[in-house]
Amino acid sequence: MEKDYTGKLISFEGPEGSGKSTQAEIIYKWLLKKGYDAVLTWEPGGTELGRMVRDILLNRGLAIGPKAEMLLYGADRAQHVEEVIHPALRKGKIVICDRYIDSSFAYQGCARGLGADFVEQVNALASGGLFPDLTLLFDLPAEEGFKRKKQCDFDRIEREGLEFHEAVRKGYLMAAEKNPHRVKIIDASRPLEIVSEDAISIVYRFLKGWEHNAKRD
Ligand code: TYD
Repeated sequence: MEKDYTGKLISFEGPEGSGKSTQAEIIYKWLLKKGYDAVLTWEPGGTELGRMVRDILLNRGLAIGPKAEMLLYGADRAQHVEEVIHPALRKGKIVICDRYIDSSFAYQGCARGLGADFVEQVNALASGGLFPDLTLLFDLPAEEGFKRKKQCDFDRIEREGLEFHEAVRKGYLMAAEKNPHRVKIIDASRPLEIVSEDAISIVYRFLKGWEHNAKRD
């Protein structure tokens, strides 16, 4: 897709308990402090429709087949891109998105076994070809992620077994291998402050490159 915007989309990805949402918030605040115009948003549930879809996906105890699950995440994404992400990018903002297309690749494509083709088609349609400029992947073994979570309020996806969540991790690592320029892997098993130092330095270098190129244009 020919880009009709000047902003940048940075997605935050990782398995359950990887701390990506905390890191997304830290980076968002850091960007604001540095004077950047930034937006923090998330999937599923970054719009009013998305919050309803999220509830259907995670909290209603419904039996949802893998294809329907993918299409529901796709519906959430299509609305999110149209209502939130694309307009912000057109205003030149930096959009920090907590989960995006690689979540579908890892969870539905790999762990649910739908395969790359199906998921990539839905991702392309739902996002309108609007792919992240940079993705931070907070990587850690599924078992460690689960040790960090409270079991009592697990949702439909979190209740899946360790094997499922190990497949999610593998899916993410595969996405990183497929897109080495876009996806940067961060070892999330380390203490929070060390992890955020890494995340900040990756985003800092990325933005410096962007500003450098913008000045040359
Ligand atoms: P999230 O709210 O980020 O959960 P958490 O804060 O526990 O990481 O995401 C909700 C769940 O949705 C999470 O288990 C991952 C799943 N998910 C998919 O399976 N596919 C997708 O495309 C997205 C965006 C999320």
